Amino acid sequence: MIPSADPYGRGRVATPRRLLMCRPSHFDVIYSINPWMHPEKPCDGGLALAQWEKLCELYTSLGHTVDVIDPIPGLPDMVFAANGATVVDGKVLGARFRHLERTAEGPAYLSWLQEQGFEDVLWPEFINEGEGDYLLVGRRLLAGTGFRTDPRSHAEAQEFFGLPVTGLTLVNPRHYHLDTALAVLSADDIMYYPDAFSPGSRAVLAEMFPDAILASPADAAAFGLNAFSDGFNVVLPEAATGLAAQLAKRGFNPIGVDLSELLKAGGSAKCCTLELRTAPARRTSV
Ligand code: ARG
Repeated sequence: MIPSADPYGRGRVATPRRLLMCRPSHFDVIYSINPWMHPEKPCDGGLALAQWEKLCELYTSLGHTVDVIDPIPGLPDMVFAANGATVVDGKVLGARFRHLERTAEGPAYLSWLQEQGFEDVLWPEFINEGEGDYLLVGRRLLAGTGFRTDPRSHAEAQEFFGLPVTGLTLVNPRHYHLDTALAVLSADDIMYYPDAFSPGSRAVLAEMFPDAILASPADAAAFGLNAFSDGFNVVLPEAATGLAAQLAKRGFNPIGVDLSELLKAGGSAKCCTLELRTAPARRTSV
């Protein structure tokens, strides 16, 4: 039986989520758009599939609902569903990719979401790479820029969602998306790697989250911040042992996963996972 709440009563409770994933049937590293990608190195498609299936099963066993979108041949990075859109309160901000190699993914994810009944949809004016750079913490969005998402997208997202958006500048190319440098753990807890951010953004994070868990260089290099949390269970790369220990100390339940093949494209657990957040239930008065 998988625990769904911190047994020591520190307020950590898992809430079931609706997740979208994309099977890595066409996964490969055939181009390089981040420093992790080396097309000349071999990649084991079968192992990538097996590792992904395990992640998918883990989510289901934790009580989450997993939807899958059909992978498209010729889009090897489509497995990274987090980049496909940003979905908050049932509203969908489409993703417009920086690199030509991935541009077809944006409309593919948007069409799928529209087919599922998401009607409040915005095709963006500015480049943004979905939840790669937009992370919801409570009722505000943290928004990355520096490598992929255009900073002008931040105002576009704020206007569309009607939620405060805090821009953060990434400076380390190995942490090219916000979700490779920062993970949301609960409505008010995050963990991050300070060195991935500009001095100003580091100061903003320290101001907003004085109690945040800080990652060591080794855990950040193991992609430990590319984590998915349901409020209690935190799914993260198993090599990030320091972060796992810190999480456990704070009452979370860290669960290590091996996604070594997907890491060859610069992605891990969170990159494979797009959260579909529906509108909060309306309060009805009696
Ligand atoms: N190869 C992909 C890219 O560079 C990896 C994307 C990882 N996704 C993420 N959400 N960080 O775009």
